Amino acid sequence: MTRSALASRLLRWFERHKRDLPWRREPRDPYHVWLSEVMLQQTQVATVIPYFERWTQRFPTLETLAAAPLDEVLKLWEGLGYYARARNLHAAARIIVHERRGQLPRTVEGLMALPGVGRYTAGAIASLAFGARAPVLDGNVRRVLSRIFGLARPTEAELWTLAESLLPRRRAGAFNEALMDLGATICTPRAPRCSACPLRALCKAYAGGHPEAYPSKPAKQQTPHREATTVVLVDGAGRALLGQRPRHGLLGGLWEFISAPRAPAGAAARHRSCPPTDLHPSDLTDLIAHKTGLRVKATQAEQLGIVKHAFTHFKLTRRVWLVRLPMPGRTPPRTNGYDRLIWATPAEVERLALTRSDRRIWEMYRARRPTLFD
Ligand code: ADE
Repeated sequence: MTRSALASRLLRWFERHKRDLPWRREPRDPYHVWLSEVMLQQTQVATVIPYFERWTQRFPTLETLAAAPLDEVLKLWEGLGYYARARNLHAAARIIVHERRGQLPRTVEGLMALPGVGRYTAGAIASLAFGARAPVLDGNVRRVLSRIFGLARPTEAELWTLAESLLPRRRAGAFNEALMDLGATICTPRAPRCSACPLRALCKAYAGGHPEAYPSKPAKQQTPHREATTVVLVDGAGRALLGQRPRHGLLGGLWEFISAPRAPAGAAARHRSCPPTDLHPSDLTDLIAHKTGLRVKATQAEQLGIVKHAFTHFKLTRRVWLVRLPMPGRTPPRTNGYDRLIWATPAEVERLALTRSDRRIWEMYRARRPTLFD
């Protein structure tokens, strides 16, 4: 079986089975291809579709995206995670509009010079939008190639070379998307549907009887676990104190309720801003003072609940407290660890881009049993 036979079988299968997705409408818009590829990194197709639709309604062109404030861009990304993707898209749109008269680069090298565009995204845009003979390698393609060629532990370099060598002379974009679709719908991680696979006759892993074993997974590292204490501080006017995270860090530019890492038991005396495991109201008072400079008596704190979130490199558990002020909140005299602090009305909390767990915290706050003071 030659390599061209592999491509022609796969392309024939793709013509009949390709998924109808909003970013695949012809003629293909390079901006839509780029946007979809960025949204699809680390994110399932079903999750991406409504985000893609909302985004392209609000920002139908690169010019509209470049002209938008970052806050609005982050708000439309809210819930998708990995927010650096949105910040980079926005920065790259500005470069393309202001320095390239709105034209995306057409080559892999040119595309990779844009913020946030790596080899995968560049290959996808060049091949899908511009018909270039450029390979792609994402999780799906990695798995499909490892299985067909029976490679238990291929290196990235080997797989890129393989992906490139398999590309047909024409229709490289369709070939790449066919590999992605095969990986997403047939050649799935745990229970591949080999009986429906157009490449079964060529597949070394199928011939060996255990296709699901390829590629072999490296032993999982334990992800570290961090804890944090969070305060929903609500003033007498019903406004909540929100902090905007620094632009360039994790979840940069997003808003959150005031939060601090939780020190291991015993460390509290040394780090008065880190509430210990056994929380005392004065620890919340310290946390608020440390982050905002506000002096607040937190003796009436109410526990709202616990929110967990898994990041790529660690897991985070946040214990959330509600502290109410009887009066309208003062402007915080300091901002420690935030770019800005604001007292936000409920309507503003809805409008701002919160992190995913802070959105859940807000929902918890809204759903709690109302008290006499509401
Ligand atoms: N995953 C990543 N890119 C994709 C695409 N263009 N179509 C479907 N799934 C994808």
